[in-house]
Amino acid sequence: MSFVSVSDIWQAYDDRSIIERVNVSVDEGEFISIVGASGCGKSTFLRLLLGQERPTRGEISIDGGEPAVEPNRERGVVFQRYSVFPHLTVRENLIAGTGFSTRFGFLRGNAYRAALDAADAMLLRIGLNHVANQYPASLSGGMQQRLAIGQAMTAKPRVLLLDEPFGALDPGTRIQMHEFLMELRDATNMTIFMVTHDLEEGFKLGDRVLVFDKPRWDPDDPGAYGATITYDFDAKNGGIPFQNILKRDPSVQSA
Ligand SMILES: Nc1ncnc2c1ncn2[C@@H]1O[C@H](COP(=O)(O)OP(=O)(O)OP(=O)(O)O)[C@@H](O)[C@H]1O
Ligand SMILES: [Mg+2]
Repeated sequence: MSFVSVSDIWQAYDDRSIIERVNVSVDEGEFISIVGASGCGKSTFLRLLLGQERPTRGEISIDGGEPAVEPNRERGVVFQRYSVFPHLTVRENLIAGTGFSTRFGFLRGNAYRAALDAADAMLLRIGLNHVANQYPASLSGGMQQRLAIGQAMTAKPRVLLLDEPFGALDPGTRIQMHEFLMELRDATNMTIFMVTHDLEEGFKLGDRVLVFDKPRWDPDDPGAYGATITYDFDAKNGGIPFQNILKRDPSVQSA
């Protein structure tokens, strides 16, 4: 059985269908990029994987069980909007990332010192060592985003959910964070779902690129149908040229 299995899920809010008939199987260690138009339900899909919401219909299993509700070391998350703790300093936010991996969520003695060392190593890696004692509100958007990425990665989760994680970063920093993510992934065999609006990034990092789109469309009632996975591209070894990805297949339009 696959590590992450999504079977015929649907999600509706107030009778508005957001996603429908979503099926996908993912092996442990795979890197899945997710692309699609704004509002088509990508973040909704991640929330379902996270266990924050339950689907209207269908089932999701991760390693044979339902997605858990509390954050734990199984899953790390970087939300579309920065998700760091505002009342903790930069360093404390990273220590909290390790804290998720303990049963009680806090650390003592040697475990605390190890978490501190891990936090300081991460600070260097994400380039925030000079602001270790500042609070997130005093950082730029890109710095807060790096902090959120660092926090999610410190716990070395089995499943990492990334919602447009690099959106606020300048091109140079973005490439550095790509390299860091790939190194960490090679070292840990994490399973990663990453939403991005950047197709090139999706194909560069992902083993597969899933496209969410609405194959059914009622012009008189745009909310009538939800989006589903219309393409599942093999992106290993460069995959197909990413430019072709959004060409619609005319055969599915009238489905
Ligand atoms: N809790 C909710 N209650 C009602 N509607 C919601 C809720 N969450 C999301 N939606 C709606 O579901 C649709 C999909 O939203 P979602 O955030 O998943 O899109 P997205 O693909 O991530 O878009 P973007 O690329 O802009 O981030 C939107 O129309 C949104 O308004
Ligand atoms: Mg979103």
